[in-house]
Amino acid sequence: MRRIPEPFRIKMVEPIRMTSGEDRKLALEQAGYNPFLLKSEDVYIDLLTDSGTGAMSDRQWAAMMVGDEAYAGSDSFYKLDNAVKDIFDYAHTLPVHQGRGAEQILFPSLVRKVTEGRNDNPQPVFISNYHFDTTAAHVELNGAKAINVVTQRAFDTTSHYDWKGDFDLDLLQQTITEYGADKVAAIITTVTCNSAGGQPVSMANMRAVYRLAKRYGIPVVIDSARFCENAFFIKRREDGYADKTIAEIVKEMYQYGDMLTMSAKKDPLVNIGGLCCIRDDEELFQEVQTRCVPMEGFVTYGGMAGRDMEALAVGLYEGMNEDYLHYRTAQVAYLGERLEKGGIPIQTPTGGHAVFVDAKILLPHIPAEQFPAHALANELYLEGGVRGVEIGSLLLGREPATGAQKPSNMELLRLTIPRRVYTNDHMDYIADCLIEVKKRAESIRGLAFTYEPPVLRHFTARLKPV
Ligand code: F0G
Repeated sequence: MRRIPEPFRIKMVEPIRMTSGEDRKLALEQAGYNPFLLKSEDVYIDLLTDSGTGAMSDRQWAAMMVGDEAYAGSDSFYKLDNAVKDIFDYAHTLPVHQGRGAEQILFPSLVRKVTEGRNDNPQPVFISNYHFDTTAAHVELNGAKAINVVTQRAFDTTSHYDWKGDFDLDLLQQTITEYGADKVAAIITTVTCNSAGGQPVSMANMRAVYRLAKRYGIPVVIDSARFCENAFFIKRREDGYADKTIAEIVKEMYQYGDMLTMSAKKDPLVNIGGLCCIRDDEELFQEVQTRCVPMEGFVTYGGMAGRDMEALAVGLYEGMNEDYLHYRTAQVAYLGERLEKGGIPIQTPTGGHAVFVDAKILLPHIPAEQFPAHALANELYLEGGVRGVEIGSLLLGREPATGAQKPSNMELLRLTIPRRVYTNDHMDYIADCLIEVKKRAESIRGLAFTYEPPVLRHFTARLKPV
């Protein structure tokens, strides 16, 4: 098959620096064996995240020049508001500083709806295909419980399945029955499902989830960080969508939600920003607006500068461009193919934004509590200056009530590809490094904490090899 070249020309470049093995050994030691604590100048190819790391287009940069920085009623806000109405058909828009800003202004209202007027002190629950870590953190900060009901097929990385981001509908029904619909604050549909490997949710599943939710009067939130990549997979894989445009598919997806939270740092191609949008519930919107002002900022800028809202209004459309999405997903698939040919076990098929290496299979001698995927991330950095990130036991953390390690179904190393930043030559380099690491897999050791923060520990923990 012909390789898909980049659908862009490069107009500006940013040099990156190769370091020596000695440099990297020292840098990693100083970083407490935690790649999050490395300086970016010590990293050659940075695959820590696809969040805020993309390259903006000439049109986005041009749009920034006409940003209206008015405190209230900014013209740039109305451009963004119109884009949201056009793309998602949602009436109400609040700009926020990033995805978690949307979570912090929205979730308290959803929790209040469960608890208000009751004196039996119920614990609200949120049910998602998979809560992203900050999403789960905001659920827990509001005293609620986060439950994941993604399809069991997601956990078998070796089997090919088109919709590893889908909800397990039986488990969803069972969970609603078990806790009682009146305790479910919301169902969160995460597109694509980051934690399962950037795996898409099918339209059929989104529709079924929404129907079930409506039967019980439960609101549905669409966590929208990677909505364009999800729509592209629907176009390619789901019956009946091949001839629809990405815009048409997106519009249908958003009928199966009542509100959206969005980290605009991913698919919408900006370096910072987010959205909290509500389809038609005026009352809820007013309540969330009231919280937006003290926590994010006045309602027509939230957490964003006027110029940033301009870039986002353009990026929302660029992110949905089909040629771009074809190249984007093909690049991720290309890295996946190179790794598979080299005998590296990965989540298959590859998802939208990253290749996920199965460290449970590659490093079977390292137990979960010694973080095999994190050990692999460190080894990849030592080999070639490539920074990936652990998605497994280290990230999952402990049960707040008991302090026990939460059991993790997967131990993955995420190689997250920034948008429009690296070429396939970089992908080859990454694959070559990891294939080299595989040759010494048996000698790789697990890790133990020297400092363990109480929440979201993976960001700032310090460790040492055991
Ligand atoms: N939801 C999903 C599915 C995410 O992947 C993220 C962020 C957020 C919400 C929170 O958004 O970072 O803008 O506050 N994911 C990044 C990642 C950080 O690396 O996967 P944010």
